[in-house]
Amino acid sequence: MKAVIFVLVLIGWVGVQVHAKIYLSCELAKELGSSTIERHLIPHWICLAQAESQMNTSKVVDMPNKSSNYGIFQINSKDYCSKDRKGGLCNIKCSDLLDDNIKDDIKCAKDIFARDGFKAWKGWVNRCKSTSTTEKNNALPNLINCQYK
Ligand SMILES: *[C@@H]1O[C@H](CO)[C@@H](O)[C@H](O)[C@H]1NC(C)=O
Ligand SMILES: *[C@@H]1O[C@H](CO)[C@@H](O)[C@H](O)[C@H]1NC(C)=O
Repeated sequence: MKAVIFVLVLIGWVGVQVHAKIYLSCELAKELGSSTIERHLIPHWICLAQAESQMNTSKVVDMPNKSSNYGIFQINSKDYCSKDRKGGLCNIKCSDLLDDNIKDDIKCAKDIFARDGFKAWKGWVNRCKSTSTTEKNNALPNLINCQYK
């Protein structure tokens, strides 16, 4: 019995690993470009994802206050998702933000953006806010060679 449980846990674990994905800038640009995200903000969204999750769709960070941040945009469980069932302002289960389908992450991140703007993300404030593509030392990605619209 123990062996069976072990195998099941292992399969579950492998299943989770398989869905993890590290996005490349151009890939994320394409995904964002096919959403209703404003095109001129795409470099900022990518910078945000780099700062918050290193583009890792399965990243979870537990906060000292018992909330956790989920996925490529590190969406917090306090307000936006629910840990055990669909819920929060995005009406989503937090763990659904960890797979390699980021359409739901983008939708939820857009809701957060609509309420609070990019300043909702500390990573964006620290790394992306005061940079622009015209500066030499900027953190915004150069998407000039990416095909996206
Ligand atoms: C992505 O995040 C997951 C969960 O935190 C971690 O196990 C994995 O090692 C990370 N992948 C990379 C390439 O950093
Ligand atoms: C916990 O900290 C996170 C990140 O700082 C914050 O977004 C969230 O609102 C806090 N949650 C609570 C319950 O205070």
